[in-house]
Amino acid sequence: MVLSLYSLLTLATVSRSIFYKSLFVYAVLYFVMFHVKVMSARDYGFAVDLANTMDWNMTVADFEFNRLLESDGCLMLFDGSIPVGIASCVSFGEIGWFGNFIVKPEYRGRGVGSLLLEYAVNYLRSKGVQTVGLYAYPYLEKYYSKFGFKTVDNAADNGALIVMNNSNVQVNPCSGSSLFKVEQFSAQFDFSVLASFDSAFFGADRSKLLKSLLQEPSNLCYVSFVGEELAGYVLSKDPGGLVEVGSLVCRPDMPDVAFELLRVLFQRLVNRQVVLYLSSNQVVLEAFLLELGFMKSFSLSRMFLGESKIQTGICLAESLERG
Ligand SMILES: CC(C)(COP(=O)(O)OP(=O)(O)OC[C@H]1O[C@@H](n2cnc3c(N)ncnc32)[C@H](O)[C@@H]1OP(=O)(O)O)[C@@H](O)C(=O)NCCC(=O)NCCS
Repeated sequence: MVLSLYSLLTLATVSRSIFYKSLFVYAVLYFVMFHVKVMSARDYGFAVDLANTMDWNMTVADFEFNRLLESDGCLMLFDGSIPVGIASCVSFGEIGWFGNFIVKPEYRGRGVGSLLLEYAVNYLRSKGVQTVGLYAYPYLEKYYSKFGFKTVDNAADNGALIVMNNSNVQVNPCSGSSLFKVEQFSAQFDFSVLASFDSAFFGADRSKLLKSLLQEPSNLCYVSFVGEELAGYVLSKDPGGLVEVGSLVCRPDMPDVAFELLRVLFQRLVNRQVVLYLSSNQVVLEAFLLELGFMKSFSLSRMFLGESKIQTGICLAESLERG
């Protein structure tokens, strides 16, 4: 009797270990089939088509730009040789941003998105990033929180990023203040002044991004000075269809500078469709934009893995995939 009980227990242990071993082998095989590669030019078509199933208005130029900025940060997920997902990462020293995260519908819910997300976070960490930011659909907050991302949440900022648009911005002639002047950015300006001003508000050096944006002739940039001091700047990107306004960075005590920068910029964008992204704590800026005819389109949740980095000052985000 004792012997047979012993035999039964042994059998149970062996079969359990076979079960766990085969589960392990299955898991290894599964994740060997799925692998992440750096995006190449021949993947653009797939990336654009997949991203636009979510109406993200992505173009080949967007992926080209992200690759130019950080070639190893544009990621493709493959099932064998079949492309099934994309994501992009960009590192600015200690702060990195994650975006353009999408998996083909038939592959969702099988853990492969998590594989890509973990790969991206590890990649950013290898670049020295300590805080990873992202803008999430609110229903995915719980998903990202499983990886340690937290929604920014304090008295000054409830973590929401509002997306606003306007299909025909009409602005009155600019007020013209004696306190500050607004000028178009040109090669005569010292770029390092703009970069360090931006870095003080963003929390990291975005020189590589700002420099690349300023090199594109269809992008516009205006700067404002109080005396000799830079008080704010605004940038817009114009790939031909929708114009994206941002980033805007301005001294917190000078909302009039931000309004004037935007008025000057919008005078160049009459009859154009404009989209911009502002955090919900930017109430003064929001009121100004609503008065100009901007409409709230939807909200996203701002999440960080690592120490939260909340921008100070009057700001518009640069983009959804780069922060
Ligand atoms: C988000 C996304 C990339 C995840 O890829 P995935 O391969 O499905 O990810 P995983 O299998 O690792 O994890 C799936 C988990 O995502 C979460 N999730 C995905 N879609 C969701 C939704 N509509 N509502 C709530 N949770 C959702 C769930 O937690 C889900 O777990 P479950 O299947 O156990 O319920 C994929 O759902 C996708 O492409 N969605 C459309 C694009 C998108 O929303 N991108 C994110 C922008 S912030």
